[in-house]
Amino acid sequence: MMRDAQMLEPNESRLTRPAFWSRLGEPWTSDAEETLVCCQVRQETHDVKSFFFMSREGRTFVFEPGQFITLELDIDGEAINRCYTISSPPTRPHTISITVKRVPGGKVSNWLHDNLRAGDAVRVLGPAGVFTCARQAAGKYLFLSGGSGVTPLMSMSRTHHELGEDRDIVFVHSARTPDDIIFARELELIASNHRHFRTAFVCERLGERTNWSGVTGFLTLPLLKLIAPDFMEREIFTCGPGPYMKAVREMLADAGFDTSRYHEESFSFEETVAPQAAPDEASPSADAPSSPSSNASANAARFAVSFAKSRRDIECGGDQHVLEAARQAGVRLPASCTQGMCGTCKVKLLSGQVDMRHNGGIRQREIDQGMVLLCCSKPLTDLVVDK
Ligand SMILES: Cc1cc2nc3c(=O)[nH]c(=O)nc-3n(C[C@H](O)[C@H](O)[C@H](O)COP(=O)(O)OP(=O)(O)OC[C@H]3O[C@@H](n4cnc5c(N)ncnc54)[C@H](O)[C@@H]3O)c2cc1C
Ligand code: FES
Repeated sequence: MMRDAQMLEPNESRLTRPAFWSRLGEPWTSDAEETLVCCQVRQETHDVKSFFFMSREGRTFVFEPGQFITLELDIDGEAINRCYTISSPPTRPHTISITVKRVPGGKVSNWLHDNLRAGDAVRVLGPAGVFTCARQAAGKYLFLSGGSGVTPLMSMSRTHHELGEDRDIVFVHSARTPDDIIFARELELIASNHRHFRTAFVCERLGERTNWSGVTGFLTLPLLKLIAPDFMEREIFTCGPGPYMKAVREMLADAGFDTSRYHEESFSFEETVAPQAAPDEASPSADAPSSPSSNASANAARFAVSFAKSRRDIECGGDQHVLEAARQAGVRLPASCTQGMCGTCKVKLLSGQVDMRHNGGIRQREIDQGMVLLCCSKPLTDLVVDK
């Protein structure tokens, strides 16, 4: 994050900026313009804020509802990346918003709440992600969210609302207490505008409120059957913390729900670090791919990987991603998507070569500077990593 003398003052009218009008319509990409300007901060609940960003150059944002961006921050001298879903809809292309919940003890969420103000510039990567109803057209949807997992489903709901599509959507949001429900009023507004959009809030407990007429407890199969009796006919999108997602998966498995119509995204760190299959083979690689015969021998080989700062040495197979090998050896490394999309596992390679197959989580300029994404890089030689 940086404060820039050329940045906008918080109350300055942004629509009068010549650059805004002259570039209007050109889509924003993080390759062309790495920093975005925070133009508004909105308190949503006692521990949730939305941060709105605009392009300094007046570019417009093109993304699919449900996709996320990665903030690349420098906090106390430490480079640190975190993914946040775009909570605004692509139908409002001049700004994007993220909606961040404070995580107790969490570095970035608390830093954003305490420090990020209108006028600040932030390095941003993306958009990325495949958790989107734009790729899963269906007659009827069921959106299930827990806590801050509301954000991708909010972007999808806002999109349908603004396009005037009277989609049959049942949106069930679970929160700790009524005061923790994010976007409660807006969801009710959308429901009041669309005959086929219904919301239901499920709160674990009452909290401070005494006038809550909604459901208290946890989402269960009998409760889901009451809220959406036809849920077995719906395309289901789920997002939330790890334990919530697990409960939903088990509930739907008990009901015999067809998993091909179930889509989920987890914000939970531990849930997302499981080793993944190699990403799309068509993706660019960090080094020129070696010949098939040298690949075969590289796959069979084992290589030494040294983490220079933490002074850890591990072994990694030629057919294994470095992140996966590091985690198996107990080396804790930051990662989110594990598919080369978010940039969270980006590190500098001090020596050695890798075969990297990423999905947009790193810029060409960074690759040229020796940066790699460990989640989608397999060693071709012994490696020394600046971590
Ligand atoms: C695709 C995607 C989209 C997301 N979208 C959103 C969104 O829209 N809104 C949102 O609020 N969040 C979202 N997240 C989650 C977000 O990326 C962050 O993970 C979240 O804000 C917490 O980050 P943090 O830096 O504050 O916490 P961290 O510093 O990462 O800490 C997280 C937790 O781990 C604990 N912890 C940290 N370090 C250690 C350690 N060494 N040992 C033990 N425990 C430790 C902390 O106490 C805390 O409880 C998304 C995540 C993903 C992957
Ligand atoms: S963890 Fe997302 S790019 Fe590696």
